[in-house]
Amino acid sequence: MVNDRSPLEQEVLSRIRPTQEEKDHIREVARCLIDAIEERGITAMVVGSVARNTWVSGDRDLDIFMLYDPSVPREELERQGLSLAREVASAFGAEYREKYAEHPYINAFIGDTDVDLVPCYLIGDARALQCAVDRTPFHTRYITEHINAYIDDVLLAKQFAKAGGIYGSDQMTEGFSGYLTELLVLHYGGFIPLLEAASDWRPGTLIDPERHQEKDFHDPLVVIDPVDPERNVSASVSLTRMYEFVELARGYLAAPSWVFFFPPGNAALSRHEFCNELARRGTTLYAVSFDTPPYIEDIVVPQLRKTAGAIRELLVRNEFAVNRTDYDMRPDRCILLFELMVDRVPPVKRHTGPPLWNRANAEKFAAKYLDNRDTRLYCGPFIDNGAYIVEIGRRYTDAGDLLRSREIFDIALGKHVKISMADHYRVDKDDACWEEERAEFITGFLGRASPFIRMMKDERTPGAGPGT
Ligand code: UTP
Ligand code: MN
Repeated sequence: MVNDRSPLEQEVLSRIRPTQEEKDHIREVARCLIDAIEERGITAMVVGSVARNTWVSGDRDLDIFMLYDPSVPREELERQGLSLAREVASAFGAEYREKYAEHPYINAFIGDTDVDLVPCYLIGDARALQCAVDRTPFHTRYITEHINAYIDDVLLAKQFAKAGGIYGSDQMTEGFSGYLTELLVLHYGGFIPLLEAASDWRPGTLIDPERHQEKDFHDPLVVIDPVDPERNVSASVSLTRMYEFVELARGYLAAPSWVFFFPPGNAALSRHEFCNELARRGTTLYAVSFDTPPYIEDIVVPQLRKTAGAIRELLVRNEFAVNRTDYDMRPDRCILLFELMVDRVPPVKRHTGPPLWNRANAEKFAAKYLDNRDTRLYCGPFIDNGAYIVEIGRRYTDAGDLLRSREIFDIALGKHVKISMADHYRVDKDDACWEEERAEFITGFLGRASPFIRMMKDERTPGAGPGT
């Protein structure tokens, strides 16, 4: 396998394989932590990519699980587990914080290593799991037993996905997790075979390594967890991320190059360039911003997505045509961006009433506009295609007024986002949307391109190559 690896891939590997020094270092950190946990009477194990030898050089991420007996009640597991994790983190003088996704754990910085200390149940069969994280030790065992011949392939695949910005199962990325990457490499038998297969993926592609054939999933890509038939390991992958990977795979196979692993990255626009580009597009940009709700990213980000979608619909219902929206979360503030094709509409709007064959409703409708002289009626009712139409005055002729109005609280905002917005939110327009700290996000928004297209544009700029 290594023999037919291209010189390019060998060169990439020499960059991304952890050095012996790195391996020794992370194993030493892991050993100290495990000793500290076990001294306190709880069995601990290293899981994740460090346990599987599939981490990419430079990553400083260590996953340690603390295994509790299944007879311990769930609340006790959380209470005892978190308190043990805090105690251990403190013993190392580490800065730490509690994190909650589906399951609470402690995230600590021990020296330069980002350590997750996760309490879970020690169970005999992954199907008997009590929390989502109980699968993880089984993943580690499964991958460790199968991965030996494919470690370099996994490293290449991870670096390839990272470079494309599609690595990570978090809500912001909606991409490929480490475990998913490992399973894909295993299933297809290597990095290049994975890219060849992915080039022809269709929505609904099903991969079932252990032939469980139990449950139907309706995600764009389905990879049945070998250790748990109820779980689609690829549930995090959105259709967009899936096809960004497909496009990268096709592009790499057609013309392999260094940029697929180490893209130089586009420079962010300056404020001045941003204003010029916006003027050139001739659209109107609105930013809705508010304090970040005090929850982790995986809780807040889906609410940002939902809120942006709901505001988009509100704008469209009011005839402000929306081209694109996006959202960004920083520790202090969140921002929703809306690019409008139309940000002013005339005072008159068209409103469709009942068809005249619905006699009762039609008569009520006509009577309402005949009796009620003070409505903002411009003309009508008239009949078009058998139904009544009126042309009446509208409430909001300016999109900014609508965004600043109370109406924004009558739509489906995310729960914690709504609380934050009710406290205070601001609306900025055009040049005022610029924030220096968000230069990269705003640049990406205006100059949107898929990862492959971005790389091809970068490659045409001088300086791309192994030397950079
Ligand atoms: P990590 O996100 O740290 O992944 O989760 P990883 O495999 O170690 O990869 P890198 O190299 O750090 O990026 C640790 C383990 O938790 C489980 C998997 O078993 C994973 O290996 N996990 C994590 C999931 O089952 N699902 C997830 O969405 C995330
Ligand atoms: Mn990890």
